Amino acid sequence: MDAFIIDGPTTLHGDVAIAGAKNAALPLMAAALLGNGESVITNVPDLADTRFFLKLLEELGMAGEFSNNTLRLDPTVRELETTAPYDIVRKMRASIYVLGPLLAARGESRVSKPGGCAWGPRPVDLHMAGMMALGAEVEEDHGYIVARCPGGLKGGRFRFEPVSVGATCNVLMGAVLARGETLLENCAREPEVVQLGEALIGAGAHIEGLGTQTLQIQGVDSLSPLKCAVIPDRIEAGTFLAAVAVAGGRVRLAGCRQDHLEPIIGVLRDLGCVISEEGDFLVVERTGQLQPVKVETQPFPGFPTDMQAQVMAAAALADGVSFITDTIYPDRFTHVAELERLGARIELKNGTATIMGVSELQGAPVMATDLRASAALVLAGIAAQGRTTVRRVYHIDRGYERIEARLAALGARIERVKDS
Ligand code: EPZ
Repeated sequence: MDAFIIDGPTTLHGDVAIAGAKNAALPLMAAALLGNGESVITNVPDLADTRFFLKLLEELGMAGEFSNNTLRLDPTVRELETTAPYDIVRKMRASIYVLGPLLAARGESRVSKPGGCAWGPRPVDLHMAGMMALGAEVEEDHGYIVARCPGGLKGGRFRFEPVSVGATCNVLMGAVLARGETLLENCAREPEVVQLGEALIGAGAHIEGLGTQTLQIQGVDSLSPLKCAVIPDRIEAGTFLAAVAVAGGRVRLAGCRQDHLEPIIGVLRDLGCVISEEGDFLVVERTGQLQPVKVETQPFPGFPTDMQAQVMAAAALADGVSFITDTIYPDRFTHVAELERLGARIELKNGTATIMGVSELQGAPVMATDLRASAALVLAGIAAQGRTTVRRVYHIDRGYERIEARLAALGARIERVKDS
């Protein structure tokens, strides 16, 4: 197991290129199950999660090849299996994404029910109810979600409550091959959902309303293979923007989509960052004192829950009291105790964190608990006085490609070491 050793404080300077989005790549990989030949997906981030998802697809019988951030996936080389086993799903919740495509492609899917995560329960009831709205019989059997539709899926109507990225993607992937029309309401509008829809339209699907809360889908008999390039990772870009907020400096981000980042840019400007465009670069600069903020996470185009930990690391050094409420995952605060080990002062109450800013953080040994929490600890470690050791960095490898090398290139004193 690896750890990061970080010696602070350092400021950050230079250019960084943003990779493809993990949370866009995973549903696209599942959608390749729907195509009638070899899909080619480029700009795929090389992460533990994408490699893991590839392993699941190969387990199902798909031919796969991954090199130079390009994935070739072919579901037609042999008859697809319909079971996503516990041993794979327990390691990655996003495995649930094969539920809809397998049901649409094979009339049956059996997916181990994903468990909770570091910050609490993560239900999948909307995924199951959505498949039932498309005419499938769905039941739970010895820890598996078993869905069947021997006669094929049929168009239906479904409203997501609450808004769910994963369930919107899953039901959409079922509906595109269902007989007749489907109406989906209160859908997620995240850029990753829009990318999935656009890739499916490119493969011959009929979808209207992408980017809005209402999707209308006219089912088709078959889809061609997918051909698309994964959008830049807005959460990775947000993490590098927040790194400059926490540590100070001036960094130019290459290859990110500003329109996907607006809710994040707004909060970073409130914190005291100057964010501007310079040619194709998005530039972030922070030289002055950090300012307190009041943040509430919301589905897109609101402020993303996947950025609240990183912004909390910045708020820990602000001149005043900040408030962060996570309305999507009210218990997503596993990073709080670890930030407090670095000297932050944070109170948690009813899903809101109250952060009393301090003038400096102190380096200390800390433990990563999940992907975004670990990113926040790394950012705080770069600004802290002295040495910080972040253990269990496998959490961060799930969502960031070689983050320590890219931060070191910006001036951070960070290295990966084997942890005993
Ligand atoms: C996606 O998870 C992302 N994961 C998460 O990012 C992200 O935090 C989340 O969306 C919200 O933006 C991937 O894209 C792989 P949801 P997902 O279904 O789809 C409730 C990261 O750090 N809900 O939109 O699992 C749920 O409990 C990860 O990259 C139900 O009640 O999230 C939550 O409160 C972490 N029933 C809300 O909806 C369901 O069946 C939103 O969850 C499904 C969800």
